[in-house]
This record gives sequence, structure tokens and C-alpha cells, in this order.
Amino acid sequence: MNEQENNSPNHVAIIMDGNGRWAQKQGKPRKFGHEEGMEAIRRVTMRASERGVKVLTLYAFSTENWKRPPQEVHFLMQLPILFFDRFVPELQEKNVKVNMIGFEDKVPKSTKKAISKAMDQTKGNTGMVLNFAFNYGGRAEITKATQALCRKVLNNEISCDDITEALIEEHLFTHSIAPYQEVDLLIRSSGEQRLSNFLLWQNAYSEFYFTDLLWPDFNEEVFDHIIAEYQKRQRRYGAV
Ligand code: FPP
Repeated sequence: MNEQENNSPNHVAIIMDGNGRWAQKQGKPRKFGHEEGMEAIRRVTMRASERGVKVLTLYAFSTENWKRPPQEVHFLMQLPILFFDRFVPELQEKNVKVNMIGFEDKVPKSTKKAISKAMDQTKGNTGMVLNFAFNYGGRAEITKATQALCRKVLNNEISCDDITEALIEEHLFTHSIAPYQEVDLLIRSSGEQRLSNFLLWQNAYSEFYFTDLLWPDFNEEVFDHIIAEYQKRQRRYGAV
């Protein structure tokens, strides 16, 4: 299906969990954990790109994260600005292209501007795609696709029987990372073992890897170890 010859994953998706706990363990405010989390993103991005990963999707802000205290939401909205300010030169050096999936509504103008600037600056890069899921939710994504398809049926552009898995995929945010929409390897840090509304459609046949490490402690060696574990697995996609 969606895999390299050496059994390496093309699309790795990560739920970067545990920033808050990492900071609190040291008696520091949660935002300190998010700052360190950005360093972990840098480390993992560089290693994933060296390892030939085609798309690295990171769950940076979910449609449910708006329920956090306003001060924290405000800080999380600043992170793309800080991140791209700091790291675009390195992304350029590594030929990494920035992409974003998620809803634009409610995201502050300055954040949107920083994101589109980074996408624009890296649009000519031909290496790994660093795909941020920002204000993203899997159910909302599928709902949006359903509404768009329904409109097309009502406008007589398509019939109900034209709706195939491929057509649904074309209406998901992840169409922008074709042909690597399907996740091969899903990683979640911090010991939680759940999907939290992340890429529900795209994770249908992915391999899951959970680690107890908190996200700011995630590094190149951990990433290499997880890839080695993935390479030992046998993916059957429902066959025998
Ligand atoms: C989970 O930790 C992490 C997040 C909610 C967001 C992390 C985002 C970044 C580090 C950077 C985003 C950057 C860009 C460019 C978009 P948590 O707060 O849920 O930790 P906890 O489970 O310990 O409370």
C-alpha cells in the first residue's frame, strides 16, 4: 500500500503529549513545556527527514484544545509564530516543506499569517513535508467532507453512487499531502493510549506506538528506536 521498499514508513504522525506535565514536574509553568516541545519538534523533524520519511504530521492544536484556559490557548496560538521565526532557516537547509491541515476559523490573524508565510517560504522544497495539524479534528474533517459531497449531489454535479472512498479522501484536509494521506506509523508520547480525534480516517491501517516519555524528552534516538520497532511489524491490511 503506502510503504517504502525497506519497510520504512512514508507517513509518520505524532500526538505530542506531555508538555504540561514535563514543566509541572520541574515546578515550572506549562508554557515552559511547550517551549521545550518546540525543540523536540526540531530534533524529530531533522531526524525524520534524514530517515527518508515523506510526511511528518504533528498534532499541534486540536479543535478540542479551545477548552483550555484562555491564557494557555493564547500561548499555543503564538507557538507557530515562534517556531517558524526560529526554525524556517533550518527547514530550508533540509529541503523541508511546511504544510498545514485544519480549520482556519478562530485562529488569530497573526498566527495564520506566520503559517502561510512559512508555507510560502518553503513551497519550492522537494524533501519531507512537515505537516502541522492545527485547529484540527478528525470528526469535524469528515463532517466537512460530507457536507461538501452533499452539496455536489444537490447541485447534480455527482450522484450518490459516485461517492467512493477515493472521492471522500479528495475532500479531506489530507488531500494536500497526496499520495501519502494514509498514516503508516502513529506515535503518541506521555503514556496515554488513545487517538483523541486525530486523523480518524487516515489511521485506519496504521501501526500504533505508545511511549511513556513526555514530549519534551523525545529525541533522535527514541525516533530511531520506534522506526526499528515498526520495521519488525508485519502489516496485513486485513489479509492473511
Ligand atoms: C501537548 O501537551 C501538546 C500540545 C497541546 C501542543 C504542542 C505544540 C507545540 C509544542 C508546538 C506547535 C508548533 C507549531 C509550529 C504549530 P499537553 O499540554 O497536553 O501536556 P499535558 O498532557 O502534560 O498537559
